[in-house]
Amino acid sequence: MINHLLLLSRGQHKKRSELARERLKANKLWYDMLDNAKFEAEQMGKQLEVTSPPGPWILTGNASALDSALENIVRNALRYSYTRIAIAFSTDNRDITIVINDDGLGVSAEDREQIFRTFYRTDKAHDRESGGTGLDLAIVEAAVNQHCGWVKAQDSLLCGLRLVLWLPLH
Ligand SMILES: Nc1ncnc2c1ncn2[C@@H]1O[C@H](COP(=O)(O)OP(=O)(O)OP(=O)(O)O)[C@@H](O)[C@H]1O
Ligand SMILES: [Mg+2]
Repeated sequence: MINHLLLLSRGQHKKRSELARERLKANKLWYDMLDNAKFEAEQMGKQLEVTSPPGPWILTGNASALDSALENIVRNALRYSYTRIAIAFSTDNRDITIVINDDGLGVSAEDREQIFRTFYRTDKAHDRESGGTGLDLAIVEAAVNQHCGWVKAQDSLLCGLRLVLWLPLH
């Protein structure tokens, strides 16, 4: 938890110019994380499908911040889904959109505005015995903002939560 807080504080206070940036290829950047998540899903008896994978799209940013941002979202999806997670990547050559859908309980419309706040966990999450601290999505939002992008929660077509992560390529 202390590590998470430090990560969040660094993410929120570092100016964009202070962030170590490099040229990255989207397919390489998230390959290992997606592969591991698929394996983990199988172990849990769930299906994680990358319906449209990332291509060798070049983006400039901090590899570890971008990798863990998507990983945090995927980990939540793994935890909260009943059986299915679907991830789709797309680009229009100026930006990347990543949509993560799961078939879990989802998040109410009011809570959807709140889940990016530090320490915020929904009542449904409080009921669960095992659980985190409510910091993951705050870290995701800070990392995405540092890359001039945004992240939004919506209702999922799979009935659970749908998170949309948008990042400019340059
Ligand atoms: N895919 C999802 N489906 C349903 N609720 C979600 C999902 N992702 C996040 N949430 C809700 O948003 C809250 C904040 O998520 P966050 O990842 O920041 O917290 P956390 O520390 O991982 O806690 P948790 O162990 O509950 O995931 C969660 O507690 C949960 O209530
Ligand atoms: Mg979480």
